[in-house]
Amino acid sequence: MKPAIEIKNLHKKYGKTPALRGVNLEIEPCIFGLLGPNGAGKTTLLKILLGLIKPDQGSAKIFGYDCLSQSLEIRKMLGYLGEDHRFYEYMKGKEYLEFIGLIKGLTKEKVKLQTKEILEKVKLSEFGDKKIKEYSQGMKQRLGLAQALIGNPKVIILDEPTSNLDPIGRNDFLKIIKEIGEADTTVVLSSHILGEVEQVCDSLVFLDKGQIVYQGKWPELREKFPQKSLQDIFIEIITGGENE
Ligand SMILES: Nc1ncnc2c1ncn2[C@@H]1O[C@H](COP(=O)(O)OP(=O)(O)O)[C@@H](O)[C@H]1O
Ligand SMILES: [Mg+2]
Repeated sequence: MKPAIEIKNLHKKYGKTPALRGVNLEIEPCIFGLLGPNGAGKTTLLKILLGLIKPDQGSAKIFGYDCLSQSLEIRKMLGYLGEDHRFYEYMKGKEYLEFIGLIKGLTKEKVKLQTKEILEKVKLSEFGDKKIKEYSQGMKQRLGLAQALIGNPKVIILDEPTSNLDPIGRNDFLKIIKEIGEADTTVVLSSHILGEVEQVCDSLVFLDKGQIVYQGKWPELREKFPQKSLQDIFIEIITGGENE
């Protein structure tokens, strides 16, 4: 089977600012954590996977399809929740999901069926008939996740989805991510919080200044940094121990 994601020698600059500097990555289907401080290049990498940004050099593939030249196939396989997803707040939650389903090209019957299933999955069934402007931040983010799930994508890309959530909202959100990952969807979760990535991700990569500085699985990371807090592990990986 082809890897879920395959990235080769990816480079991207915005004018003179380098955002990615030679990223190579191969990920099997799993819940995958993309970690890194602000400005590390996470969003740029995710947008290249989505076919929204063209790299200066290198290639990115999802299940063997090229993110740039095969964008139609890619779009059918992907769900996306961006950093600052905006809703039409005057819509009701259910209405919004149906609208997204129709945009994604689903039939009316499929849209109805999937909307019901996905609202259950993200624990919003009771609130489908409520206007989005009345939702809490946690509910909005779960609705954002719901719109990414419409159309049964093989891979969902979530760009710092919990950064505006309180601990309870974050916990609820992560529990749903775990359930989705266990149901055979590859999840790419970007974050700057190591603790939340530990809670849900099988495999992780640290990105800093556009380069991968660590890649591995949880047990390996724990073994490498015994008795360190997650925050200290994060800082040590990013600074290469310079802060000690
Ligand atoms: N549209 C843009 N124009 C100019 N510079 C950008 C743009 N988007 C990102 N950058 C720069 O590229 C680098 C990586 O940014 P980004 O991919 O957004 O990182 P992250 O998501 O990890 O915070 C940063 O230095 C950022 O300032
Ligand atoms: Mg970002």
